[in-house]
Amino acid sequence: MGKIILTGDRPTGRLHVGHYVGSLRERVALQNQGDYDKIFIMIADAQALTDNAENPQKVRDNIIEVALDYLACGIDPEKSTILIQSMIPELTELTFYYMNLVTVSRLQRNPTVKTEIKMRNFEANIPVGFFTYPISQAADITAFKATHVPAGEDQKPMIEQCREIVHKFNNVYGEALVEPNIVLPKNSACLRLPGIDGKAKMSKSLGNCIYLSDEPEDIKKKIMSMFTDPNHLRIEDPGETENNPVFIYLDAFSKPEHFEEFLPDYANLDELKAHYQRGGLGDVKVKKFLNNVIQTELRPIRERRKEWEQKVPEVYEILKKGCKEAKQVAEKTLYEVREAMKINYFE
Ligand code: TRP
Repeated sequence: MGKIILTGDRPTGRLHVGHYVGSLRERVALQNQGDYDKIFIMIADAQALTDNAENPQKVRDNIIEVALDYLACGIDPEKSTILIQSMIPELTELTFYYMNLVTVSRLQRNPTVKTEIKMRNFEANIPVGFFTYPISQAADITAFKATHVPAGEDQKPMIEQCREIVHKFNNVYGEALVEPNIVLPKNSACLRLPGIDGKAKMSKSLGNCIYLSDEPEDIKKKIMSMFTDPNHLRIEDPGETENNPVFIYLDAFSKPEHFEEFLPDYANLDELKAHYQRGGLGDVKVKKFLNNVIQTELRPIRERRKEWEQKVPEVYEILKKGCKEAKQVAEKTLYEVREAMKINYFE
């Protein structure tokens, strides 16, 4: 059995640097290493509709935005299959079968869903589709027999739940499915990038994101306005680097060559942190450096995005081809699933 990747994103907005360091950068690296047999990247529109049922246009418009972000980051359609979730109806069918293997109380314990319910003020009015999306996500992963799911830390409970479903399915119906593993970024700063306001998560609804498609001036404005250590009032004061978003971003983005190029007085990030902790290093200097680092990282992405923006019909062709390829794979799995479940009456 081969090594197969499946991962994806909800098309509810453009992708931001939290997506990038949390998962996109890893996906591109895995793609280019070339030791996976298949890579599927899913634009999860059906999942996006679970909490955007009344906003179909928003979901539709963001299909192309997310596809452009993927291509801009270096997802190569020759090496990876980009697909749109709703174009593969087998995923819905699989979800329906898996629902029999999951209890309501198990869903209620999923910590990511719990947090999201709070964030959306859904407490008293949870749409059933939203409540059950971890089951649908298990269908996404298993339909492609994915062995690896590169994703952010918030997806860990989803993968755990998926593994339980696979385990149960294989026990009851016979070995037809594969248990996936999550692939998290090795750098802990990338696990959960805070927003520019210092809030725990970068998220469109909180309005604290730096988008991959942001123009240089916007990036600069956002970085110069970033939340830092609130007790670091004067330059001489000792500062904290640990919960300081500016330093967390540097942990996530900076490379040795950035110091050589933009801040040669410091050999590396440890030296810069030590100076800040001692006192005598101002926020503006650190932010200017961070701006240089992020501008350097995002420039090629933004430029590639602009090239693809000129070729939108070609992007739709890539998506169409990806959906077709993905559907064939999912059809094959569903054939096996129906056989295992003894619902293949006319075979
Ligand atoms: N839940 C993911 C997100 O919010 C999107 C997603 C849908 C996904 N299906 C998936 C991620 C399967 C990994 C694997 O971004």
